[in-house]
Amino acid sequence: MRERDCPISVERLQRVLLPIGEASGLPNAAYTSADFFKYERDAVIGRTWAGCAFTDTIPEKSFAQPVDFMGLPLLITRDRHGELNVFHNVCSHRGMKLVAEPMEVPGLISCRYHCWSYSTRGELKGTPHIGGINQNSCAGFKNSEHGLKRVRSAEFMGILFVNLSGDAPEFEEHIRPLRSRAGALMGERGWAQLRPGVTDSHITLELHCNWKLAVENYCEAYHLPWVHPALNSYSKLEDHCCFSDSEDFSGQQSLAYRLSDVAGTKLPRLADWPADRVHVAEYPSLYPNVLLGFHADHAFAVILTPLAVDRTREELRILYIGEGASADAYSACRAATHAAWRGVFGEDVFAVEGMQQGRASPGYEGGVFSPVMDEPTYHFHRWMAARLIEPAREARPLT
Ligand code: FES
Ligand SMILES: [Fe+2]
Repeated sequence: MRERDCPISVERLQRVLLPIGEASGLPNAAYTSADFFKYERDAVIGRTWAGCAFTDTIPEKSFAQPVDFMGLPLLITRDRHGELNVFHNVCSHRGMKLVAEPMEVPGLISCRYHCWSYSTRGELKGTPHIGGINQNSCAGFKNSEHGLKRVRSAEFMGILFVNLSGDAPEFEEHIRPLRSRAGALMGERGWAQLRPGVTDSHITLELHCNWKLAVENYCEAYHLPWVHPALNSYSKLEDHCCFSDSEDFSGQQSLAYRLSDVAGTKLPRLADWPADRVHVAEYPSLYPNVLLGFHADHAFAVILTPLAVDRTREELRILYIGEGASADAYSACRAATHAAWRGVFGEDVFAVEGMQQGRASPGYEGGVFSPVMDEPTYHFHRWMAARLIEPAREARPLT
């Protein structure tokens, strides 16, 4: 599908860009149309930096791991220098999907069809019989021109991000506003103190909804009293405020986050977190598909993997601070933190799935926004709509 074939008209998308009190959200097709799902992959998600996988899923050895990203076969490798690489998971010869299952790579990655082989850095190393029986090279064929096609990638908070189009701004530029905002709490040293938890740190949910509904729900605190009564008992709706002042993220901030008091946890805290803000917590949705949470004593990162137009995998990792990540002395604290978030994310499932079901109805076509409470969600709708209608873009397949 070409970019100008967006299944939603420009006129309709422009209604999303109206001032919040007049705007209507993205129409149902953005959540229900398989054509739109492919279109948004190429026109929106592929043109920026999307969360693709957690780096802790790739063992610390020479390794190859296939991943499917919205129908695109990708291959993550860890090379012998320990670095992560992402490629299109397709053999340069006749287009066989190169790697079918995660595998250790002691030597080369060999195609299962005619045994062309590649290094974990994507170089084409072997082309058996290419020039005839026992002729493993042939005139005019340069291995160096037929390596695996690399996908730009970058790591942040244990997430491997990819830019499928290859022409998004540099990742550091992309992440700078978020780093800056969260850095006001985390401090300069904070990022380096985050450690993936060894236990009580993973949550995986499969949601029967479009990925955007999980983003939109995460952005706002409006639903708190009705969906999260336990959380609302100590971090109330009135203790929250919204932020949507940066282009690529929006979210909510709590001024009364007190899990450590409520659950009696005493996890190590970030060294530079301001002492007068220990009860502040921030929850940005980093568009398109990453959700983050920052607290004085832990952070978390979520990847929303769009599996189909109405199905999303939601994977969460909790990052603890220093020795809190692994020391036995903190196991009860980690368990309490993990249980609290498992509860909160579980409570949201019926809401996002209920919105998906509602989008089958002709009685709804984008709805309206509370001009106050829905500001971060509206910001996300605008972000999507603006990218969908960018008129100057030429039709261009992702390569
Ligand atoms: S398709 Fe891979 S070696 Fe032929
Ligand atoms: Fe929620």
